Amino acid sequence: MPVTVVVGAQWGDEGKAKVIDLLAKEHPVVARYQGGHNAGHTVVVGNERYALQLTPSGVFYDTVTPVIANGVVVDLPTLFNEIDTLTSRGISCDKLKVSTRAHLIFPWHQSHDALAEEARGDNKIGTTLKGIGPAYADKSRRVGIQAGAVADIDSFAASVRQRCEAENVLITQAGGAPVDVDETVARFTELGTRLQPYLCDTVNFLHDELANGSPILLEGAQATFLDLDHGTYPYVTSSNPTAGGACAGTGLGPRNIDRVVGITKSYTTRVGAGPFPTELTDELGDRLVDIGREFGTVTGRRRRAGWLDCVMLRHAVRLNSLTELAVTKLDVLDSFETIRVCTGYRIDGKEIANYPDLPEVLDRAEPVYAELEGWQCDSTSARTPGDLPSQAHQLIRLIEEQVGVPVRIIGVGAERDDYVLWGSPA
Ligand code: GDP
Ligand code: IMO
Ligand code: MG
Repeated sequence: MPVTVVVGAQWGDEGKAKVIDLLAKEHPVVARYQGGHNAGHTVVVGNERYALQLTPSGVFYDTVTPVIANGVVVDLPTLFNEIDTLTSRGISCDKLKVSTRAHLIFPWHQSHDALAEEARGDNKIGTTLKGIGPAYADKSRRVGIQAGAVADIDSFAASVRQRCEAENVLITQAGGAPVDVDETVARFTELGTRLQPYLCDTVNFLHDELANGSPILLEGAQATFLDLDHGTYPYVTSSNPTAGGACAGTGLGPRNIDRVVGITKSYTTRVGAGPFPTELTDELGDRLVDIGREFGTVTGRRRRAGWLDCVMLRHAVRLNSLTELAVTKLDVLDSFETIRVCTGYRIDGKEIANYPDLPEVLDRAEPVYAELEGWQCDSTSARTPGDLPSQAHQLIRLIEEQVGVPVRIIGVGAERDDYVLWGSPA
């Protein structure tokens, strides 16, 4: 297994980090390939709960080299905060490598994010306000500052000053408060100096590791339906979480990848605005939120919740070349009398099998549901397929049949060891 990609198959928070933590045992290198500190990746080890925004989820193993690859946008205050917190809790980040080609996030990006959301009025995207969109926009406009720039700290400081002054003109024009230039230059000079020892040509590092026989795990943040190209635009993030983004975001080629694990909850959630065909706005939705503790890791926002949507998952298989699925949070359904699974959409009275490309069509999609009997017993202690109730077997088999790829991992609780291996690895 040279390279495995882990990608969210829904709208994020599927439990990617827990699966990465599990797979990291067999992968000496774990690399994040896109997104930034908009991500909130939770790993629970015993009584300790870690919420990571930038550090790859493999960091808990001293056998793993964590890599922040070129496709990530890096907020230095968050990165060093995270490193300090992990270190104080006994987790070493000494092996962490940050790509010289990763772009940096600055305070003006956060100002622009807030101003853009404000300007959208009732059509807010509901971003995390971390400056992700503006940072990727600067990368595309070819005015971004890459991490490698800190190697020459004086010239880096001059670039920060020049960019900050230019952005302040736009920020004040839009009615925002200007960013304090001197304070920002001083702060980022200090942070930039601290970044120097972590810098790495991660493209060549990853290829050399591969050539030396090290399996590599590529960690996606966000998810397929938040993808800039394939998600529910404009209610998306500004990067490409889909598996193709793993190539662009690391410099590994498509032929290096031989396993793509799509992560899905046993139901669906979304945080922020945008279409959501199987959303439950009733008491059942509240139950999913309450039992599943569906509150954002980063922003604390209540997530929207609904039934599992296999039309989306089938599309995720196409977009990512998924070789398998991990179904997380099966235990959240433990108390439900009846479980519904969306198998198709009805649009204007006609049933369609493929995920629609236009948002206005998606808005009109009425889910067609298969209804299954719930198991109504505790699944959290299950460790083998035989420990799971027969109704849970039926649900997993329905998902496999509907989506067309095998389920390999089933999550039955938040803790590291709360999972069941289903079938044999691809
Ligand atoms: P990520 O962004 O995809 O890594 O997911 P998050 O960490 O944002 O959200 C997933 C939440 O579900 C976290 O609080 C996890 O601890 C928790 N979790 C992960 N897998 C399971 C599971 O199988 N069962 C339960 N009950 N919780 C889980
Ligand atoms: P993880 O990696 C869930 C959502 C935001 C918003 C949209 C755009 O933990 O799964 P952005 O700040 O990226 O410009 O916001 O994307 N969003 C996420 N939702 N999980 C995430 O990350 C998310 N990262 C961004 O809520 O709707
Ligand atoms: Mg998350």
